[in-house]
Amino acid sequence: MLAGLTSGNNGTQAAAPAAGDNGVSSVLPQSQRPRPQYTPNRIDDPNYVRIFDTTLRDGEQSPGATLTSSEKLEIAKQLAKLKVDIIEAGFPVASPDDFDAVRRIAMDVGNTRDASGYVPVICGLSRTKLRDVEVAWDAVRLAERPRVHTFLATSPIHMEYKLRMTEDQVVENAVAAVKHLRKLGCQDIEFSPEDASRSEPQFLCRVLSEVIKAGATTVNIPDTTGWALPHEFGALIAELRKNTEGAENVIFSAHCQNDLGLATANALAAGEAGARQLECTINGIGERAGNTSLEEVVMAIALRGEGLMNGLWTGVQPIHIAPTSRMVQDYTGMAIQPHKAIVGANAFAHESGIHQDGMLKSRQTYEIMVPETIGLTRADEAGIVLGKHSGRHALKTRLTQLNYTLTEEQVSDVFRRFKDVADKKKTISDEDLLALMTDEVHQAEVIYELIDLQVMCGSLGMPTASVKMRGPDGVIRTASGMGTGPVDASYKAIDTLVNIPVELMDYSMQSVTEGIEALAITRISLRPTGKLASEAFTTNAQGRQSQRTFSGSGADEDIVVASARAYVSGLNKLVAVMKAPKISAAERELQRLQASKPLTERASNAVAV
Ligand code: KIV
Repeated sequence: MLAGLTSGNNGTQAAAPAAGDNGVSSVLPQSQRPRPQYTPNRIDDPNYVRIFDTTLRDGEQSPGATLTSSEKLEIAKQLAKLKVDIIEAGFPVASPDDFDAVRRIAMDVGNTRDASGYVPVICGLSRTKLRDVEVAWDAVRLAERPRVHTFLATSPIHMEYKLRMTEDQVVENAVAAVKHLRKLGCQDIEFSPEDASRSEPQFLCRVLSEVIKAGATTVNIPDTTGWALPHEFGALIAELRKNTEGAENVIFSAHCQNDLGLATANALAAGEAGARQLECTINGIGERAGNTSLEEVVMAIALRGEGLMNGLWTGVQPIHIAPTSRMVQDYTGMAIQPHKAIVGANAFAHESGIHQDGMLKSRQTYEIMVPETIGLTRADEAGIVLGKHSGRHALKTRLTQLNYTLTEEQVSDVFRRFKDVADKKKTISDEDLLALMTDEVHQAEVIYELIDLQVMCGSLGMPTASVKMRGPDGVIRTASGMGTGPVDASYKAIDTLVNIPVELMDYSMQSVTEGIEALAITRISLRPTGKLASEAFTTNAQGRQSQRTFSGSGADEDIVVASARAYVSGLNKLVAVMKAPKISAAERELQRLQASKPLTERASNAVAV
């Protein structure tokens, strides 16, 4: 029986949860197995499934999910705690910012081995254009285990309308990119035939055979439009593994979009059909309806892999799932729905009388996993009640129990806010603490700081707000504004000091707990208008252009203050991203190297695209 679960395969057996590091039940036995040694094109354990996380690439392609370079680095560090096998850190050719973010992750996270010897592969995405390939390789090559993932569409629709290429040209370009990567020194090469599930299987086999011959080590089969059904996608993977020359020398992978809500089911079907790499994102964020949700795939394999999937297992440490989900929500501004599987607020809530009665009699009646497994400890079982007399140590201990590892400076920041809130509230719940984490820790760098806010409003006159803020120059200034309501007035006052024209795209507020003294958490998104608007466009790997929006969040007992904090947080993110140097030092160095090469070696398209 697996420790950490409340049921066996038939959902009826019980087990006492295992004790984890911090004394709570947490760890599944699979997550303690040593993972097989990393060789790009081979896995020595036939049941081991690599988890390839693309939150920072496909996930960032979600409308509105702009991340700063520092936020990407923080998320990558958290993904390394989860122990995903591969981190797709971005699309380096997209902009100097993207290049820098991938390079920083490669140099930092990609060179940090833990005590068990684990270090993630750092991957950069690239089209098959040789210049893209060179930039992607340059961004990742300083990682201990660098990988480039190159892709080209193979479906009749994409080849005719998007690429305007013949089948032969597609094969030629794909092979040229893989060979070029080999020539550059890259030994870990992933190739994706984009829109594979709508491609002719025979043509897919031809392309895959050729890229394998050229040196690809992983072939990834994307269901780019989320079109496939699980049995169909599993059959496609099996057919490709059977009919592709050299299939036995590479790892097959699956990348499933969620347009029909089938991404998790399709990824699992691919795993059962022999795919040994599954591509996922935290919270399932990604293009359109999103990507395969990492937490769903990992927990499905953890709970059912042994019994019903011929022993499949992953090396992911589920105990870090909840904090990672929270961090990604905070940084991307993409809050998940309460009923989201595994990580939604209601995933372990039992509302109906019958369910509550069952839970009181035995937790196995309605829980197929205990929340501790994914890093959620129940406040009532932790034995610590935080309130106004609690000290820094108690706060830090509780945050550690919730699987947050903070620097001393971050603990001090949260503690300062904790004391403010605890003065007004009798007890501080875990939800309150997580709201303070959102407000204090999961933030873009503080460029403008909100110091004080005073608002006059009511039915007698025009709502008026005064704000006091510290600017990037360290000078404290005050301003006031009038608006249609107290929030609008505060935003006008802040605008006067920040002086960047923006449009508010979205605003939401949620009470963190029940009761009149509850903390409120506000999330906003905004986008620049005027001259800056034209600079805020981004082009994704598939060539889609979109205007960047920037998210912000803030928490306070006062809803107007929470709203103002969220607005300043969104403005800080905008300034951090838009004011980043347009040409980075790394890009300049690349250009210099490029210019110093003989013309024949320079990046160019070997085959016209
Ligand atoms: O959805 C897709 O096809 C992709 C590929 C680049 C793998 O994101």
